This record gives sequence, C-alpha cells and structure tokens, in this order.
Amino acid sequence: MADDKIVISRAQQEKPHFLSDSGVKGGYHEPADSQQEVGNLLPMRARRALRLVAVAAVAALLAAACSTTKQSNTPSGGGGAKKIALLLPETKTTRYEAQDRPLFEAKVKALCPDCQILYQNANQDSAKQQNQADAVLTNGAKVMVLDPVDSASAASIAAKAKAKGVPVISYDRLILNADIAYYISFDNVQVGKLQAQSLVDKLKKDGKTGSIVMINGSPTDNNAKLFKQGAHSVLDSSGFKIARQYDTPDWSPDKAQTEMEQAITALGKTGFVGVYAANDGTGGGAIAAMKGQGITPIPPVTGQDAELAAVQRILSGEQYMTVYKAIKPEAEDTAQLAVDLVNGNTADANSLANKTQNNGQKDVPSVILTPIAVTKDTAKDTVGKMISDGFLKAADICTGAAAAGCQAAGISS
Ligand code: BGC
Repeated sequence: MADDKIVISRAQQEKPHFLSDSGVKGGYHEPADSQQEVGNLLPMRARRALRLVAVAAVAALLAAACSTTKQSNTPSGGGGAKKIALLLPETKTTRYEAQDRPLFEAKVKALCPDCQILYQNANQDSAKQQNQADAVLTNGAKVMVLDPVDSASAASIAAKAKAKGVPVISYDRLILNADIAYYISFDNVQVGKLQAQSLVDKLKKDGKTGSIVMINGSPTDNNAKLFKQGAHSVLDSSGFKIARQYDTPDWSPDKAQTEMEQAITALGKTGFVGVYAANDGTGGGAIAAMKGQGITPIPPVTGQDAELAAVQRILSGEQYMTVYKAIKPEAEDTAQLAVDLVNGNTADANSLANKTQNNGQKDVPSVILTPIAVTKDTAKDTVGKMISDGFLKAADICTGAAAAGCQAAGISS
C-alpha cells in the first residue's frame, strides 16, 4: 500500500495511541456485525477473550504491515528508503495538523514516491522536540524540516543534525545561531504591520482614542518577536497608548484569556478601545475574556492564520481582522526543497531560495512569502481567495452565525 511510505506521527510518538486510535478501532469495527452474531451465542467471558484475540491479531497484522515505519534503528538508507523528518511545534493552533502537515506529506509523496516522512509534533514542549529530533536522526533521517518550539535552543538540534551530515530546513520559524541549510517563512515583520495598521485604521475611522491591549506570542518563538516588532513600528507612533502588554507562553489561547482578564481588571471594562492579538488562538482567548466579562460591543481584535473559527468570527462581527498566510506554497516549496536535498540536487534547491535571512550565524538562503490582511470589508476577495486556494471551504465557513456575513459578502458554497 502506498501509504506505507508515510510515517504517521502518532504511530511513532505514542505507540499505545497507535494501537487504540488508528490500529484497533479500524480493524475492530469493520467485522462488528459478525462479532455481534457470535457474541450473542457466547458467554461474556468468552466474548471478551475472543475480542482480545482479535485485538492481538489486528495489532500483529498492523505491526507487520507498517514495519517499515517502526524500525527506529534501521541503518540509514536501509531498504533504499529516503527519510525526511518533519518536526512541527504544537497542535493548539489548527494550521499544523490541518494544513502544514497534510500539504507537505502530499507534495513529498507526489515528488518522491520512495521517500518516507518521519513526522513528530512537540505539543509546544521544547525538551520533547529535542527528543523527537534525536529519535528521527537515529532513525536515519536524511533531511530535517524543523519548526522549532524554541528558536534559540533549537540550535543544538541543528548542530546534531549537521554532525550527521543532515541538512536542516528551518520551517516557518527561524532557528537562531545555527548552520542551517534553508529558511522558509512569510514576511513576519509585515504580518505585525498589517495587524497593527488594520487596527489603527479601524479605530481612527470609528473616531476612537485612548488605550489598546497588546497580546503577543510565545517569547521563545522568533516569529513572535518579528510580529511584535512590526506591530510596534505602527502602534508606537499611532497616538494610541499601549496600556497593557503581554508575551503569551506557548501561544496558549487559555493563557491569552487570563492575560486579557488581568487587563480588564486593571483597566476597567471601558478602559481600552482595541486589542492587538498576535494570532487567532490568542485573539480567541481575548474575545472569550471580554465576552465573559459582558463587554459589548467587543472592541476590534486582530489575529493571524485565518483559522476557520476566526474567519467565522470575522464574518459574524466578533473579530475584526486576521492575516491569511497561504500555507500551500510554504509547505509545498519546503517539500520541494527537502526532496531536492534528499536526492542531492542542491542546485535545484538553491534556485528556489529567492532571499537570504541572517540568523546570527550566517545568511541563510530563504524563501519569504507574502501575508494578506483579511477583514469583513475585504471578505469577498480575501476569504474568496482562501476558498479558491482550497485553504477553507465555503460550506464549512458559512454556517451558524457566519451565514449572514457570508451572504452579505457574496460568499456562497
Ligand atoms: C506561526 C503562526 C502561529 C504561531 C503559533 C508562529 O510561529 O507563524 O502562524 O500562529 O506560531 O503556533
């Protein structure tokens, strides 16, 4: 089966889940009818025993079928497999599992049928990511695509990879002070500028003056620093006062909600006119805090990622803006780079990189993509583009409270 080539993350990460989630359930439910019939004729204990035998048999079959994905100590190159590691940072932000991973996997599969992907997600834990990186290197990864939880400490991962001759592609977040092969991301200072400029323009248009609350991303993420820098370049000279400012550990929406609750307590329910939130998860946390305190109407809130829930909030009027970063070219160009590198085509890989980005140690050949601001006013074009790009589906967006907004913007499924 073609899918053997792709290593499914959870299979490697947490073997018990592999058995209970993907393995046993699938194999167990299919013959459910016949089991039901036998089961009705047998006493409970015998039924349980039968079930256990079935579970063991399915597990053994799966182990055999997927053996290529589980040989963690296979010498590199064993069986001719070209192994590419994809290490992503977290799951609370929906992009990683909904966009980055499947788009990357599909493109690698199309470009290189005999490549294997070793996928891991660190759930925002940098120590865990270090272990995952060690594991994929031991498992014979020839190229590592790394979106670091911690841009600074990931330098030690890059050093280990380099010692094994494994090139590292710094995916979306820059790995600092390390000898990495490529960096691919968006213009992240521009993301911050778009967020802040949209907020300032809206507040000025509405005749508002006064304070705003700033909810930034994770202090270990170099991108968060760049978003903040871009935002400050607009906000600091805007005439609005940044009355409260937070860095949000792990980009956690829950922590953003707590930060916003603290800001409301300190400033009062009417003590601010807008909220700069660095992404849709933290923006959602801020909105939840304001709703929880009964603040209406909710002042303009920014975001980023064009997550389904955020696009719906924009169409229903709860969130003011988001930033659409088309993940497809980011993931697919990375797949192209990784496949070129695994095949030793450095010339082709080099021709993809159109810029350089200094990471403190070197000018890293880079691919830098362009972000797009999204508001309700521009939804016809911007949300329309997400739909035509295949990023989101109109049928998913235009439900519940977002349906009327879709209709008003001329978006239909
Ligand atoms: C990414 C954002 C994402 C955030 C939280 C940043 O590095 O660029 O798209 O929302 O991390 O995962």
